[in-house]
Amino acid sequence: MRLSISVPAVMATSLRFGRIVRTTGCVSFLRSVYVRNHSSVGPAVQTEITSSCSQSEINREIKSFAELQNERREQAERSVLLSCPRKVSEKLLLKYLAKYGDINSYFFYESFDVCAVVEFSQKNSIAMLQDGTVMPASKHESCIPFKSRVFTLKMNNPDDQANTRQSLPYLKQSAISINELVERISAETTLDQQICTLTKTYELTEENVRLRFLVCSLLQDIAIQYFPNCSVKPFGSSVNGFGKLGCDLDMFLDLDGIKEQNSDNTSEPFSVEYHLKRVPSERAATQNVLSLVGDCLDRFVPGCVGVQKILNARCPLVRFSHQPSGFQCDVTANNRIAMKSTELLYLYGSLDVRVRALVFTVRTWARAHGITSSIPGAWITNFSLTMMVIFFLQKRRHPIIPTLDQLKALADAKDKHIIDGNDCTFVRDINKISVSENTETLGQLLQEFFEFYGNFAFQKMSINIRKGKEQTKPEVSPLHIQNPFEQTLNVSKNVNQTQLERFVSLARDGAWILQQEGMTKASVLGYHPWGLAALLLPSASDTGNKAKKRRRREGASERIKSLLESLKNSKSDVKNDATSESSIGKRPSLRTK
Ligand code: GTP
Ligand code: MG
Repeated sequence: MRLSISVPAVMATSLRFGRIVRTTGCVSFLRSVYVRNHSSVGPAVQTEITSSCSQSEINREIKSFAELQNERREQAERSVLLSCPRKVSEKLLLKYLAKYGDINSYFFYESFDVCAVVEFSQKNSIAMLQDGTVMPASKHESCIPFKSRVFTLKMNNPDDQANTRQSLPYLKQSAISINELVERISAETTLDQQICTLTKTYELTEENVRLRFLVCSLLQDIAIQYFPNCSVKPFGSSVNGFGKLGCDLDMFLDLDGIKEQNSDNTSEPFSVEYHLKRVPSERAATQNVLSLVGDCLDRFVPGCVGVQKILNARCPLVRFSHQPSGFQCDVTANNRIAMKSTELLYLYGSLDVRVRALVFTVRTWARAHGITSSIPGAWITNFSLTMMVIFFLQKRRHPIIPTLDQLKALADAKDKHIIDGNDCTFVRDINKISVSENTETLGQLLQEFFEFYGNFAFQKMSINIRKGKEQTKPEVSPLHIQNPFEQTLNVSKNVNQTQLERFVSLARDGAWILQQEGMTKASVLGYHPWGLAALLLPSASDTGNKAKKRRRREGASERIKSLLESLKNSKSDVKNDATSESSIGKRPSLRTK
């Protein structure tokens, strides 16, 4: 992988692993990273960063969620986005940009165009670059003048640069296909390695995370024109540690910075207040704010396309595609609880490396079988799946992660957090949480996950990560996962019985497949999609559904023809059925509750 970040930036990245010693168990991986030293603008230097997917002894200094967010936000505020010609001299380009100030780091990526993200050392470099930037002259179209931190780099005299031009070393920002993944993990020799490779292949890269923060920062530049002191923060899988390359970018427009300026200074004889527009409710205020942001993105901001204002949803939002980054974006406001659940998931993912690896694997498996979908509907969401993994890990004989109540008990006064009457308090200092004694491998955990949910009493019981115990369902929804902070709500209320049954049936298939496959590759010869790869292939039930659909598409005469064929082959069918009966008999004995 080519990662173009400066030496100090890489050191900062690796420094994140340092303070806490968390004892973990199996394979560790070396990730090769090309470090581009911008000051010399010389060739890439290869260095190595150790990153571990499962349990080996590593020193980890894990930054708190707030620390990490602030650091990245500040970095994004010093960054610009440049769409570049595909072939250009990288050296010349950096020399040109260095006129505006020192460059801390940069990288190229491909979206619609080839683009560069350039992080300057100082914010004022951006103002200087903007001063030196011109509006494009267009004779044929009418354009609305707009100044931002997104630029187009034009070559003034392409012929003069002909000898030095080269294809820029850009990174792809999308995930490889499931088929490529299956091929890649089939080459691994243990199930644990397969899970680690899947995680490494799909997790967000350093550059992708930087790009996400930059897009938030660009939106903040716009929102701040209307709402001084507001901020735009990423939440959800972009920052909770469970994001897959290509996942959407959830943004939270936080207006509380404005309110924080209130002063209670009563020692003065007077105080002065702003005039404010009164609206009927907080929800109406959120809708008004988002409506304005949506209109602004739609009408004036280049590269923001397909803007939809979804203001009557339970959580009003504006959805759009950001072309320069290629991200599908959702902007919400007044959504502080989602920020808090993001922080909670980040904490759980940082406690033990097995948490992220298992969440990635289960999410990928669910997507491969259509248990989750990018289209809203009665499907299980990634968020619900993550809660299910967390609950399962809390339920181990030696729990891998604590319950939310245990995290609350460890909290101090600084951690206290109440949102709209909901207690969202939990400890944020990871050092206060003891390391789990559990030594189960990822392969064992994956198999147990499928057995656990293949047998779970969904009809009667609710999943509750606050207590780490199943509880009697308070309502009739097929799947009940208690919202950890708004405890009367069910995060999976949308899921219908059919989708739940598919999940259970595929979980049982999963347990069975893994039992057949074992934890290590049986034969090293030739390509054989084994273990996790076998789990990601369409299952017998999927194939059955597809076949049904195909049958519906076929004409009646075709159906009659195949019916006659099947009558002819009825003898051998009986034999085949007998074989499949016997294989059903080999299913692991699933525990029933
Ligand atoms: P992706 O599928 O990768 O986008 O995962 P995600 O975790 O980002 O999920 P999504 O974009 O659907 O939602 C973003 C965030 O909103 C989640 O991480 C949660 O913090 C929150 N969220 C999503 N769905 C629910 C829900 O049903 N209830 C609650 N309370 N929060 C939710
Ligand atoms: Mg999301």
